[in-house]
Amino acid sequence: KMNTFINGLLSKMTLDEKIGQLNLLTGGEATTGSVMSMDVENKIKKGQVGGMFSFTTPQKIRKAQEIAVTQTRLKIPIIFGQDVIHGYKTTFPIPLALSSTWDMSLVEKTARIAAIEATADGINWTFSPMVDISRDPRWGRISEGSGEDTYLGSQIARAMVRGYQGDDLSKYNTMMACVKHFALYGAAEGGRDYNTTDMSLDRMYNEYLPPYKAAVDAGAGSIMTSFNDINGIPATANKWLMTDLLRRQWGFKGFVVTDYTAVNELVDHGLGDLQAVSALSLNAGVEMDMVGEGFLTTLKKSVQEGKVKEQQITNACRLILEAKYKLGLFEDPFRYCNEERAKTEILKPEHLQFAREAATQSFVLLKNANQTLPLKKTGTIALIGPLANSGPNMPGTWSVNSDLANTASLLDGMKATLGANVKILHSLGSNLIADAEYQKRATMFGRDIPRDSRPEEDIIREAVDIAKKSDVVVAALGESSEMSGESSSRTNLEIPDVQKSLLQALLKTGKPVVLVLFTGRPLVLNWENENVPAILNVWFGGTETAKAITDVLFGDINPSGKLTATFPQNVGQIPLYYAHKNTGRPLPDGKWFSKFRSNYLDVSNEPLYPFGYGLSYTTFAYSDLKLSKSSFKPGESITASIIVTNTGQLAGKEVVQLYIRDLAGSSTRPVKELKGFQKISLAAGESKTVTFKISAEDLKFYNSELKFIAEPGDFNLFIGANSKDVSTIKFTLR
Ligand code: IFM
Repeated sequence: KMNTFINGLLSKMTLDEKIGQLNLLTGGEATTGSVMSMDVENKIKKGQVGGMFSFTTPQKIRKAQEIAVTQTRLKIPIIFGQDVIHGYKTTFPIPLALSSTWDMSLVEKTARIAAIEATADGINWTFSPMVDISRDPRWGRISEGSGEDTYLGSQIARAMVRGYQGDDLSKYNTMMACVKHFALYGAAEGGRDYNTTDMSLDRMYNEYLPPYKAAVDAGAGSIMTSFNDINGIPATANKWLMTDLLRRQWGFKGFVVTDYTAVNELVDHGLGDLQAVSALSLNAGVEMDMVGEGFLTTLKKSVQEGKVKEQQITNACRLILEAKYKLGLFEDPFRYCNEERAKTEILKPEHLQFAREAATQSFVLLKNANQTLPLKKTGTIALIGPLANSGPNMPGTWSVNSDLANTASLLDGMKATLGANVKILHSLGSNLIADAEYQKRATMFGRDIPRDSRPEEDIIREAVDIAKKSDVVVAALGESSEMSGESSSRTNLEIPDVQKSLLQALLKTGKPVVLVLFTGRPLVLNWENENVPAILNVWFGGTETAKAITDVLFGDINPSGKLTATFPQNVGQIPLYYAHKNTGRPLPDGKWFSKFRSNYLDVSNEPLYPFGYGLSYTTFAYSDLKLSKSSFKPGESITASIIVTNTGQLAGKEVVQLYIRDLAGSSTRPVKELKGFQKISLAAGESKTVTFKISAEDLKFYNSELKFIAEPGDFNLFIGANSKDVSTIKFTLR
């Protein structure tokens, strides 16, 4: 039915109308580049707009759609996109934080709620999930992904596509996913945004590509190209990537859209003028051109000159029309504008409640000496720091749909949630960054951080006075939301010096200090880890951050998040990730330096906090790791089991992690690879046996001929609380 309809439509379309469908413009509101779409209404009337994004009101969407379906010759509806990245108006924790929940049904539900809310406001296409693996916390966009791990990243990619798209894209409350950024954007050299990527096929196929493939296999309707160069051919012009790999090898059936002006940027990459690069990009496999209008302004001429075949344009147009058809837009172009539903379903109490729960699950307890946490709901608390009273910073990067001005700060949240038995004293304590620095680069650090122009010492003194009058100090420090995300790479990953001076002064008071750390990336926290008794990493937790932090600080919820990206000891160790190769000269176990071994003179090879790490207010013990048998053949499986016991006084959740190591292969294999995990709840004193089934499928990798195979031989299997703390057992694949 769809084919007949689309064939009929295509047969009526002129070349210009087909090219018009390949054009994606903004509503002229949010821009992430220097170009802004102009004269949009007129272009719609001329049939020159296939899709639009970054509209913030349903009224505008309705109006634009009305023009498309009443005033154009063929009345083709527009597809409306938006960066609905971690929730819509109900904003959930940033993606890196969400991944730290290790809870796939929770992740899926956040995407489902995002779709329910966004579709009421007219949006039917989201530029999410972002599945770029990143092992470089200097890269600001590590905050937008699921961290460093291929297996976990693939699970999350699937969960998000399911959440957005459901099982029927034409339903009024599901929207099309757009997997991004294809490909390898997270491996930009030096962690500098938009920078070059150069990567072996081994690493690509085994480590970086699987999450994109997982999202494609889950049925994602579209995919976005990345800005970066890949081994000499920028992604947006890379025929091998978009045609050979994506279409032919993976069988992708949806459409490919570029990132913002990525076609035009091929000129700066050095591939030719706009005329040439637009043809190159289309021929490589791009269907839709975001904002730059290279397709719109050059493709006709390229057809006339024989540089592009009209059939290629027809094919691209077909895929975009198919997407609109699957969304049900031909049946009802206004299906996704529902003002009534918007009133009742956006920011619904259940959604907010779930956002609060999701945030509590994403926090990672990094340190808790002497059971400093949880805090008692009595006495006097000094809440100090530049992030203590800044609501707009709570939702985090890419929260374009959040009501930032009305988001509660931690101070508001504590006041609203805690009873009269707790007295809260508050002081700024320090600016986010040194005032002089702020004056130079204010726009980079963003959203309404309260700022004080008095000398640093005066601001600190005031905070210290308050701390002295309190029983405990809660220091809300770290990054502002704009210090991570797009175009926010950093080379110094410590918390800014002014904040560190504050922390030192607070510790000198002798009061117990809890560091509530806001960050969009792994930071370097050696000094904090050595000196501060308790550190709770809260990332950026979305709309309900403030209440969620209060829930966890005061023990209503026991933290259970685990890191999905390694926290290094220093920037020089980057890239530092648990699934590294062994090298021919590995460092012997237990040593931090050994001459003529692979290590540094000035720092050990260890991270500060490893992948998978996170504490709880209770403790867990692992015992009795067993295998159902010690060897198996392809087609069979074995079961690994371990007993996990809650050895503390409180109920808690634990993420039990399974890793394997292929001990001898035809290619070198990582020292550990995550292959399974389970999040379990245990009452105080309770034990559970956790089991994992392992088959040859779990042992497969891409060999040097890019065949996905499991090789017979010995494997180590590890189960534990993080990638370092594990019990080990050996098995054989016969
Ligand atoms: O979706 C984003 C992308 O992640 C970065 N550039 C702009 C796009 C649209 O806003």
